Amino acid sequence: MIYRPIVIDKEIVFSKKKFIVSKTDVKGNILFTNKNFCEISGYSEDELIGAPHNVLRHPDMPKAVFFLVWSSLLAGREVSGVVKNLAKSGEYYWVIADFSVKRDDNGEIKSLTSFRRAAPTQVIERIEELYETMLSIEKKHGMKRSLAYLEAFLEEHQLSYDEFLGELIKPKGIIATLLAGFKKMFG
Ligand SMILES: Cc1cc2nc3c(=O)[nH]c(=O)nc-3n(C[C@H](O)[C@H](O)[C@H](O)COP(=O)(O)O)c2cc1C
Repeated sequence: MIYRPIVIDKEIVFSKKKFIVSKTDVKGNILFTNKNFCEISGYSEDELIGAPHNVLRHPDMPKAVFFLVWSSLLAGREVSGVVKNLAKSGEYYWVIADFSVKRDDNGEIKSLTSFRRAAPTQVIERIEELYETMLSIEKKHGMKRSLAYLEAFLEEHQLSYDEFLGELIKPKGIIATLLAGFKKMFG
């Protein structure tokens, strides 16, 4: 059983080239982690394997973001997200996460994978404000209203969620090349 750390307002900054990977079952229980995941989150492989992935859940994250991620994955669609994670020390680290779905021969979902990389400052700045608003709406009025806010926000920018994120988080240059290679290795 993993304990809940006391939240500390201190960021863990890590190299853009340190990709984090984890695999879960269809319920979000961790099946696989790479070394970088353990190093950055502060948990050992033993502590993480079998634990639910919400062990990293940071209280600053709106529920609506995970709702969107899970809705896409369970519908079999790849999805991305910007996530503030809680390390074992109570510190936080921001990631850009690309989620994907693996199916077995019968077409049933076998596992879910997330590839994560450090989120650049300009991405964090843009998304932090949006999440703060969504979270305060959730606290007062519940998740449906924060989803409605996000929808209105996207409509105002005339973008879908995927387009909005795509524009914000698209990997560039060497990082794009490294990430593609990494995904091939662990995909
Ligand atoms: C492959 C995969 C990776 C995930 N990675 C994270 C993560 O890094 N941080 C996180 O807070 N939730 C992650 N989640 C989502 C969690 O399963 C969970 O929905 C989320 O932490 C919200 O927790 P809650 O549903 O208990 O509120 C991941 C889910 C999957 C399927």
